[in-house]
Amino acid sequence: MTLKIRELREDTRDFAAIVNIDNVCDPEHRYTVEQFRYDYEKFDTKKYVMRYYLAEVDGKAVGYACYHHMPQRFHPQRFWIWIAVLPEFRHREIGSALYTRILADLQALAAKFLHTSTRETWADTIRFLEKQGFREVMRSWESHLDVTSFDPRPFEEYLVRVEREGIVLTTLAAEKEADPDWLVKVHALHNAVMADVPSSAPFTPLSLEEFQRRTLNNPDLLPDGYFLAKKGGEYVGESFVFRIPAEPGHLSQGLTGVRREYRGKGIALALKLKVIAYAKAHGYTLIKTWNATTNQPMLAINEKLGFRRQPAWIEYAKTLA
Ligand SMILES: CC(C)(COP(=O)(O)OP(=O)(O)OC[C@H]1O[C@@H](n2cnc3c(N)ncnc32)[C@H](O)[C@@H]1OP(=O)(O)O)[C@@H](O)C(=O)NCCC(=O)NCCS
Repeated sequence: MTLKIRELREDTRDFAAIVNIDNVCDPEHRYTVEQFRYDYEKFDTKKYVMRYYLAEVDGKAVGYACYHHMPQRFHPQRFWIWIAVLPEFRHREIGSALYTRILADLQALAAKFLHTSTRETWADTIRFLEKQGFREVMRSWESHLDVTSFDPRPFEEYLVRVEREGIVLTTLAAEKEADPDWLVKVHALHNAVMADVPSSAPFTPLSLEEFQRRTLNNPDLLPDGYFLAKKGGEYVGESFVFRIPAEPGHLSQGLTGVRREYRGKGIALALKLKVIAYAKAHGYTLIKTWNATTNQPMLAINEKLGFRRQPAWIEYAKTLA
């Protein structure tokens, strides 16, 4: 067996190799080459560092590793890493060789904090990370809602309740037409609520460009499925979804958040009702969401609505000397 580790070439063949490795390793969360290309090409390499390596055995791509800065938890010495090896090529030190390769770069960059994640069911990955000295820092539940069997009737009072408070529920698509300041306002709302999402590292506000790249200009964002709660001219809450091109019928829940001073009034639940109604009306069958196990309010809302818990995701971190 000849193992070669080389840098990623920025072409469709290498992009497809990475997407294939991830889709084989995690068939429950499939994605496409177009999605990889978007994330890769739009990553702001003027501000942040990102690098990918492929592991080839006899010319076949069997694994990869990458590291990059974390724009929403930015620290110059903090990096997200990811290593994946095709199941039939595991236990041959390929993952360790990839890790050694990126670690050399990371040390040269004076990296201090490394973060990554794994599913609680991925025994190989957990063993690998623990052996390399990574430790669990937080967990998130993945939960799924079966849209086809969802009955909105028991929740109608929430829509009445927010209306009584003078809250209007609208969409991003409608606001783009109606309010010339929509962009500045939706960006401000997003940063305000993101600051309160439980995290293993301090939140750093997203620049407008970064917010546009990740969310507003993302080709999978559904502007009609991006709901906003408005009080007067102010945006006080949001809940939005992305389509999952490799999983027809499925949606991925983006952020649901409400400004602090408006919490506890049923706004988040009402926004999620709108998202679910949108999903149903457009023939989607499933919504996937991820919530920190410490996020009591969000977990309570999702449980109430009938989201069912799946195996958890565990975030691991390591501090380099
Ligand atoms: C999570 C969040 C969106 C909830 O917004 P909210 O508008 O206050 O929530 P709602 O008022 O719609 O809550 C609806 C129901 O959820 C439950 N709930 C809400 N807050 C709760 C809390 N702190 N503890 C337990 N249950 C709670 C209640 O059952 C409530 O129903 P009730 O009003 O009939 O009692 C808000 O706390 C937030 O913006 N947090 C920061 C962003 C975030 O973490 N988003 C999720 C990322 S995964």
